[in-house]
Amino acid sequence: MKTRIGLVVLSLFLSLLIGISLGNRHSGASSGKDAKDTGVVIGLSMDTLQEARWQADRDIFVARAEELGASVLVQSANSDDTRQMQDIQSLISNRVDVLVIVPHNGKAMARAVKLAHEAGIPVIAYDRLINDSELDLYISFNNILVGELQAQFLVQHLPKNRPARIVRLYGAKTDHNSFLFKQGQDNVLQPLIDAGDIIVLHEDWAENWKPENAKKITNAAITRHGTDFDAILSSNDGMAGGAIQALREEGIAGKILVTGQDAELVACQRIVAGQQAMSIYKPIRNLATQAAEYAVKLARGKPVIVRDSMFNGLIDVPSVLLDVITVTRDNIRETVIADGFHSYEDVYRSIPASQRPPRLHSQEHP
Ligand code: GAL
Repeated sequence: MKTRIGLVVLSLFLSLLIGISLGNRHSGASSGKDAKDTGVVIGLSMDTLQEARWQADRDIFVARAEELGASVLVQSANSDDTRQMQDIQSLISNRVDVLVIVPHNGKAMARAVKLAHEAGIPVIAYDRLINDSELDLYISFNNILVGELQAQFLVQHLPKNRPARIVRLYGAKTDHNSFLFKQGQDNVLQPLIDAGDIIVLHEDWAENWKPENAKKITNAAITRHGTDFDAILSSNDGMAGGAIQALREEGIAGKILVTGQDAELVACQRIVAGQQAMSIYKPIRNLATQAAEYAVKLARGKPVIVRDSMFNGLIDVPSVLLDVITVTRDNIRETVIADGFHSYEDVYRSIPASQRPPRLHSQEHP
């Protein structure tokens, strides 16, 4: 009898010990509230930190996750698929509770989703869709709307008295978003192209969204067609920067309409200086914060109910598609500056004080 009681006490003591050790498996998570006891660990695998936006995505995501008592293991693959697969395999072997992936190549990462699910780990695709897989959640902006707003801006500002001549710069072919941006642009442009009102002189895809590749495409367009064209429909700011460099070399920067996306600081500075016509502001704070919240929910096995879905070639992935805003010289104070995405000083840094528009009331004397 005594030995049996002894055994019961011993097993109770052991299970307590195991319980505590499991709880601390992922500790070392940073400071803060009791919630941390959940010990949720999120694996965040990023394609790149090349564009300024991705650094902001990472920082806001990690901060919100830690507020919720979780910790985040971050990996960046420098646009290398093999490296990203290795990153994900190491996060899986670290037994993270949920994986959040910004895929370099949406198709290549289908296998990563399979591996994660075999290990019982749910997967969220962040900003870019992962194709042909049983994804648990896709969270991004309304990327077709991005393309539509870029093209609508262009159409409003192109000459109407003759066919307009444009160059089109698409993003990386490995990135599903590039096709969504193009689809949105086509939704607006195709009828005008069919009617002969718009002529696409030159178009191409920039590998890895690299500005230098966008510059090369713009150089090729100028070599073939000269500088007699009206606009460059660039899918993001990084590429717009490369294209504008090519225009500067021809002395025509500011004379050709150039679009963009991401409202990067350098792009906002180009916009107020008249070298870039517009960008698309995507409030990253909304995306990164909500993604962290969904990640913690999935990690805790909580149901995630969302309104949208997107077909990824295999399933209709439950999706969250956030709103975006067109940014021009006329509304930059009311949008990116009012939102605190960039400061008034930073945006107008290269503009003499006498030529700057006044601060909005809410922005006086920060
Ligand atoms: C896209 C993203 C854009 C852009 C690009 C380059 O997927 O939605 O914001 O920056 O990647 O990284």
